[in-house]
Amino acid sequence: MKAITQYKYGSPADVLELQDINRPEIKDDQVLVEVRAAGTHIGDWLVISGLPYLIRLMGFGILKPKNRVPGMEMAGVVKAVGADVTEFKEGDEVFGWGKGAFAEYAAVSEDALVLMPQNASFEQAAALPISGFTALQAIRDKAEVQQGQKVLVIGASGGVGTYAVQIAKSYGAEVTGVSSTRNVELVRSIGADHVIDYTKEEIAENGQHYDAIIDTAGNRSLSQLRRALTPRGRLVIVGGTGGRWFMGVGRSIRAQMLSPFISQSLGTFISKTTKEDLVVLKELVESGKVTPVIDRTYALSDGAEAVSKVGERHSQGKLVITM
Ligand SMILES: NC(=O)c1ccc[n+]([C@@H]2O[C@H](COP(=O)([O-])OP(=O)(O)OC[C@H]3O[C@@H](n4cnc5c(N)ncnc54)[C@H](OP(=O)(O)O)[C@@H]3O)[C@@H](O)[C@H]2O)c1
Repeated sequence: MKAITQYKYGSPADVLELQDINRPEIKDDQVLVEVRAAGTHIGDWLVISGLPYLIRLMGFGILKPKNRVPGMEMAGVVKAVGADVTEFKEGDEVFGWGKGAFAEYAAVSEDALVLMPQNASFEQAAALPISGFTALQAIRDKAEVQQGQKVLVIGASGGVGTYAVQIAKSYGAEVTGVSSTRNVELVRSIGADHVIDYTKEEIAENGQHYDAIIDTAGNRSLSQLRRALTPRGRLVIVGGTGGRWFMGVGRSIRAQMLSPFISQSLGTFISKTTKEDLVVLKELVESGKVTPVIDRTYALSDGAEAVSKVGERHSQGKLVITM
């Protein structure tokens, strides 16, 4: 099968190649998925580049990557099932998360797959899992967004942000998105009630306060973010920027340390991959409350270009590789 492979850390253009390799063998609890589309996200760029160095200590390989084929989210068609698999059969259209998604076939645990949303294309379904989990868990579990609350999504046009805006709206919030000028209309089109163009105006400048702030852009100071929160508001730090070692982790640590001593709640989190939440995302799409935003699709042979673009951190929604 054709697959994008990686044998060392470095820039996607330097270390990713398109190769012919054997199809993965499935274990008894796994499904062989004929991948039709694979989502990309900043996590792919981090694992491919090996930066920040902290990521290498998180089990991805110290000197070189452990996984030969990158890619963590996909949608496709079941080609074969392991002996213990009960939920799926050959021909089912599924989506989910797993290793080695940038390939024509991937071996994926039954527990990491769900039948595709009935109204979604392979590209849309592949764009859902990782960014969708992050947005859902940020809004529902960390910010605990309630009907009528004011929510600010910073980085509203990105992979996580486009889901966060739509999911916050589905919880009945009044949503303000923050983006650059070229993305103002996109952010409005996915349901944001207000948009702040950060090239013209900064948050907290207009005197507006929010019950929850979801920060995916990661480049504002804690004090600036706190000034835009209500006295009991919740800040959820989703992403950080800067530094080859820790990439903005210092700000997250400071937020967690300060939080117990103030009335505002400041926190961060690492999203969890769960089948229950994959079902929630599927239902949000089927109910029309969430529509994945696809910036661009790339052929598998152009996978390195897709991951390089993700690393620039100005995607308009998600970049998807199609097989
Ligand atoms: N905690 C977790 O478990 C978890 C999981 C997934 C991702 N993340 C993190 O979440 C962050 C976002 O990921 P993503 O996939 O959404 O990235 P992305 O698709 O690259 O989106 C980043 C967005 O940030 C916006 N942006 C850039 N500079 C900005 C600024 N100064 N002010 C406001 N917005 C700005 C960009 O919009 P413009 O083009 O309009 O500037 C872009 O839409 C990353 O740091 C990633 O590591 C964390």
